[in-house]
Formats: sequence, C-alpha cells, structure tokens
Amino acid sequence: MIASMMIPPDQLGTPPMSDSPFSLLPRASNHAAALDNLYIFLTVVTGVSFVLVIGVMVYFMVKYKKRGDDDVTNPLTHNGALEFWWSAIPALILMVIFVWGEIDFMKMSAPPSDAININITGQKWKWSIEYPEHPGSESLENDIPTLIVPLHQQVKLTMTSTDVIHSFYVPAFRVKKDVIPGRYTTIQFIAIEEGEFPVFCAEYCGDEHSSMLAKVVVVKQAEYAERVAEANRLEQSEIETVAQFGQRVYNAKGCAACHSLDGTPSVGPSFAGIWGKSEQLSDGSTVTVDENYIVKSLKEPNAQLVEGFAPQMPTYAGKLTEPQTRAIIELIKSIGK
Ligand code: CUA
Repeated sequence: MIASMMIPPDQLGTPPMSDSPFSLLPRASNHAAALDNLYIFLTVVTGVSFVLVIGVMVYFMVKYKKRGDDDVTNPLTHNGALEFWWSAIPALILMVIFVWGEIDFMKMSAPPSDAININITGQKWKWSIEYPEHPGSESLENDIPTLIVPLHQQVKLTMTSTDVIHSFYVPAFRVKKDVIPGRYTTIQFIAIEEGEFPVFCAEYCGDEHSSMLAKVVVVKQAEYAERVAEANRLEQSEIETVAQFGQRVYNAKGCAACHSLDGTPSVGPSFAGIWGKSEQLSDGSTVTVDENYIVKSLKEPNAQLVEGFAPQMPTYAGKLTEPQTRAIIELIKSIGK
C-alpha cells in the first residue's frame, strides 16, 4: 500500500566506490577528507590501544599463571612513574581528539553570510526541499525529493520537522544533523564533486523511516539556476489529464505516505472509493466526501476526522496551489467508484 513511496536505490545516485582503501564513499564535500582523516586517526589510536592492553593482559596471564599450591604472589606495591604516564598519555591523546573534532565541527557550523540558503522540512516520511526563490513548490526530479547544489559554492541548509525528530544525512558529504520539530537546525558545506548522491533519514522516525529518502545532485554553477527552476515546477503538462496531474501531486506532496490509491487503509483512509461516500466521523457525525470536505481536510486535517484514524496529518494550508488542489480532487473522483 505504501509501496509507491519506495524509491529504487538505482534512482538515488548510489555512489561508485572510492579509490581510497580507507574510504568506502566518494569525498564529495569540503568536509569529507578532514572527517575521514579524523576517523582514521581514531581507528588507529583505538586499534593500537586495544593491542597494547590486550597484549599485556595475555602476556601477564601466561607469565603469572599459578603453577602450584606453593606458588604464592609477592606483596603488591605500585609504580608511580608508570601510573602517571599511562594516565597522562591517553589524556593528551583525548585532548588532541577534542581540539581536532571541535575545529571540524566549527567549520561545519558557521556558514559565511554569502551561502546559498535552502530549506529542508522533514515529515513522516518524506523530505521537502524548498528554495526560497521558488515559494510554494518543492524540488523534485521524477517524484524524488532532490537537493540541487552548485559545485564549489557555499550552501547552507536550514532544517525543521513538522512532526518527530528526523536526521538529514548525506554520507558522501559526511554531513548529518538532526531535524527537530519546533526548532531550526543548520548545516553548511561546499560540494566539490559533480554527481548524484543519496540522502537518508538517520533517526528512527516510525514505520517508513527506511524509505525516507532523497538525493543530492551537484551541478556546474552555470547549470544551477535552470536545473532548480525545472525541479521546482509542478504544473499540469500538455500530455496529462487533470487526474494524472493529481497523481503526480499526490506523489510529490507526500500524500502517498498515508493514503493508498487501492482501497487499503493506512495511516489515513485510502483515496479509493471515497468520492460521494458518507463518512462516519470520530465525533459521531457524518459527512459526504465532496470538494468542500476535501479542501477542508487539506487545510484543517483534524477538524473532521474519519472514525478509526488518529489525528496525524499535517495541514496543507498554503502548500498547494489552486490547480494542484483541483488535481487532487480530480484524482479522488477518478478512483471514486
Ligand atoms: Cu525520518 Cu527516519
């Protein structure tokens, strides 16, 4: 029923393997190499520590094994110099890790004022990517939420959630940040490699968490404006009916996450077979599904809630243009009977 949400991995621009033996991913942003180096440093330090501690432990186990009943341990004392150094050296290494990590963290956190700002909204279970210069539309390519960024330019993402905590994660950029309801979080980066890279939700947010996907497309600066304009267009094309356009709106605006088109109830009622139907509401009254009920449900989803469903839907007030709203109505009509 929610299968239409699932984005095939080959459409996400799954990155090719990197040449580096230490890295499984492309290093597609300015942060990638620095974070990989820190990660390799941590791996080496913890690896060496492991070998030292376990090695000495095994050596002592063999050397000081009790070999008979009259094998008695000497009275134990301590070694001040040894204890000082095995505390001081790890403390120094920890300071190095802290300062190194803090410097990288500051670089990721403080965007310069000339960065391109792009807004990201997390919602169960879809990413919406909005460019302030294209209000009222979302960046999509083939119905996949698409973050388009220009090569070698500062980009700042301003992110929030309409429901629960999500996490916007671009492995190829080594950037990840929680997306939190009622708060704005930001990340900034410079893309340094052209191509397409997957975006994941990295915070468990319910049923369809694993299919909350998107992609990043890094394009040449000269192609950027045109590509963004194209991805933000959600209008009826000449070759489709209003209902077919409604189907595209349904996918693009995230309706598919909760309303099936085949009659199966999901988080919300299915769109199939409801047109003209008399619905039983949670407050005991009934309502006929017509244009006005659909528009009201888009604007105030929880005002007239169908019996048996939780008040989970976010409002779509201001999120759909008039033609898009009519297209959704036509879609529901077309599968009404
Ligand atoms: Cu959104 Cu996991």
